[in-house]
Amino acid sequence: MPLRPWQCLGVAVAIFGLSGCGPEPEKKEAPMDTACSETLKRGQCSKCRCMGKNGKCTRAVLCTACSDPYSFLANNDTNASIPHGECAIQCPVAPQRPAMPANALDLNGKEWPAACWNGTEEQHFFIIGDWGGILSGSSSMTFKNRKTIMEPIDIHAQSYVADRMAAVAKESLPKFVVNVGDNFYPGGISSPGTCNAETHATDAAGSIIFTNIFENMYKGAGLDGVEWWGILGNHDYGGYHYNVHWDQNIFYTWHSDKSRWLTPALYWTRKVQFRNFSADFFFLDTNRVDTDGNPDADPEHNICSRSHNQPPQPLDCKGTSITSPDTCWQWFMDMWNAQKKWLAEKLEASTAEWQIVVTHYPPTFEPCRSELWASYFGKYGIDLYISGHTHLQETHYKTGDFGDTAYVISGGGGGITSEIIPSKTGDDDAYGFMDVIINHDVINIIRYSHGGVDKKTIIRGQTQVFPRGRSEVQVVV
Ligand SMILES: *[C@@H]1O[C@H](CO)[C@@H](O)[C@H](O)[C@H]1NC(C)=O
Ligand SMILES: *[C@@H]1O[C@H](CO)[C@@H](O)[C@H](O)[C@H]1NC(C)=O
Ligand SMILES: *[C@@H]1O[C@H](CO)[C@@H](O)[C@H](O)[C@H]1NC(C)=O
Ligand SMILES: *[C@@H]1O[C@H](CO)[C@@H](O)[C@H](O)[C@H]1NC(C)=O
Repeated sequence: MPLRPWQCLGVAVAIFGLSGCGPEPEKKEAPMDTACSETLKRGQCSKCRCMGKNGKCTRAVLCTACSDPYSFLANNDTNASIPHGECAIQCPVAPQRPAMPANALDLNGKEWPAACWNGTEEQHFFIIGDWGGILSGSSSMTFKNRKTIMEPIDIHAQSYVADRMAAVAKESLPKFVVNVGDNFYPGGISSPGTCNAETHATDAAGSIIFTNIFENMYKGAGLDGVEWWGILGNHDYGGYHYNVHWDQNIFYTWHSDKSRWLTPALYWTRKVQFRNFSADFFFLDTNRVDTDGNPDADPEHNICSRSHNQPPQPLDCKGTSITSPDTCWQWFMDMWNAQKKWLAEKLEASTAEWQIVVTHYPPTFEPCRSELWASYFGKYGIDLYISGHTHLQETHYKTGDFGDTAYVISGGGGGITSEIIPSKTGDDDAYGFMDVIINHDVINIIRYSHGGVDKKTIIRGQTQVFPRGRSEVQVVV
């Protein structure tokens, strides 16, 4: 005869303690819903189940559904009492490239259609900057910017770096290359006074330069067909000119259907979707750094300088509001102010796991440092900032200045002599490039040197970067 509840309680307390009361059979293990573990949530699981009893899991928590836009991939364990699996993106059919714009400025601030790779292999991309040397015959000569020259590295630095990139690319299989600008030394493409934001085409000088200094320089298995995503550096405008044929850096994006050159605007954005996470890339034009409200100030470091932008060269830049050195600064200021607002809105809306900024100048340069990076890095949880301009290879992380935002200076692409005198052995950070491995939890930045005269593959350092959350206390820099 079954005990009544009050009897049970009494007997249980008296004889058995609180456990094992009554004849009720012990509950059997059964599938039950449960909260997803942190790991599964990071893997984009939205619903989880486990085998359990009495409301507690007795076995592993399993993923049974995924959050949007990820798809559930069931594993093949047909025996399993709980059908489970993992989450992975189904890449959409690659959309058509947007058509060539009428004006080189038309796609400013626009988002380029997302890139998508859903494989399980390691995901790599490369970083290079300040890379295009002076064309001599069909070879590249490094632009000489210091007295002491270490032959032969300082003479053909671009080729040394390109050679190491090709060697590493065979193994790493980078998905894309991030190009931080200063594409063609010393003064961009063609002569001052030729800029025209409505040309739509590459001129003869541009074709020769793109073919020899870009296409034929970076090639081979692992680099062929791999897109270069970029922005312009100060030398692409002309250094101390504003009006060389810089628009070609944008229009070359459309020079062929198979173009691997991708610089669709002066500032733009692209989402990169990987198997179970994504990264938002923001490409900015920070060349406002090398402009001055006074056209007579600092002529050697002033894109808008009056002394270098004088008649008889045409002073206007067709298709833009620049008509002379006096209107040049305002044009850069307008673009700068537009970008500040644009970047805040884009970062605010970003739901990707990683936020990555790409621009020519390191974050220490003013006025960008105080007007943007001092607050934006923490407020929007920018994880990684990729730059060049300073001619060497450096990685900075948690060194005080910018808190938990890592920054890279990869200005040692070899177009111009480095700040550092290179060694013959290649054991230095004068020239090189970076190979970046990105996954859901960590970005690993590997710094490669130029390899020296023996063309060795030399890793100079590695930096592991972890996600930076939003709204941390602002860093004062
Ligand atoms: C994301 O996918 C990779 C395979 O590319 C896998 O190794 C990893 O465990 C997944 N991450 C999570 C958190 O599920
Ligand atoms: C499931 O089985 C198929 C065929 O045996 C195999 O190709 C596939 O890789 C398996 N998938 C998983 C997730 O194990
Ligand atoms: C499926 O269950 C049977 C019987 O319990 C077992 O022998 C077999 O190894 C299981 N298969 C898998 C793939 O776990
Ligand atoms: C990747 O996406 C494609 C296209 O949607 C899909 O056919 C394929 O199964 C996906 N691969 C993986 C590993 O998820």
